[in-house]
Amino acid sequence: MDTPQGRYVSESVSEYSELALPNDANSLGNLLGGKIMHLVDLAAAIAAMRHARNVVVTASMDHMDFIHPVKLGQLVRLKASVNRAFRTSMEVGVKVWMEDPVKGTVQHVSSAYLTFVAINPEGKAVPVPQVIPESADEHRRYAQAGERREYRLALRRR
Ligand SMILES: CC(C)(COP(=O)(O)OP(=O)(O)OC[C@H]1O[C@@H](n2cnc3c(N)ncnc32)[C@H](O)[C@@H]1OP(=O)(O)O)[C@@H](O)C(=O)NCCC(=O)NCCS
Repeated sequence: MDTPQGRYVSESVSEYSELALPNDANSLGNLLGGKIMHLVDLAAAIAAMRHARNVVVTASMDHMDFIHPVKLGQLVRLKASVNRAFRTSMEVGVKVWMEDPVKGTVQHVSSAYLTFVAINPEGKAVPVPQVIPESADEHRRYAQAGERREYRLALRRR
């Protein structure tokens, strides 16, 4: 099947929510950072697969800060979208919020950028469609993804 020229960001957006449960919490009742990273990887992989229409692997995850805790009984909400595609790789941005379903409050928990690579059954990287940005935010993320890729490639070379 031919790779299409491009896909709109809206075609691959992935949204996901999960209730914070005791198995995934520390002794203070806060959701573990590793659990949030796992959910970030899943939400991002869904967006990348939707964009590529192909199996993808996580090549890297950039720096992550946790700026607000998620307490037991609260909801973790994630939204992921493909910011830009290169040749075989894609940068996916994920934003994480916590929602208190009783109080009705929502707070920003973390944001992350991940790189996924589309691979064939032999594990070889294969080309992906380009991203077609539409809104001003999508154009900004597209441009910034290019700068972040330069930085990642420089780190890799070192
Ligand atoms: C990611 C992987 C497919 C790259 O394979 P590779 O032989 O290095 O392939 P290439 O050098 O041709 O790179 C392919 C693309 O990946 C990108 N890439 C590779 N490593 C990267 C990294 N650490 N961070 C960001 N991008 C990376 C390259 O820039 C290239 O992008 P482009 O085609 O858009 O220019 C390979 O390293 C792999 O399979 N890793 C394991 C992935 C995995 O199992 N993840 C699950 C968690 S362990």
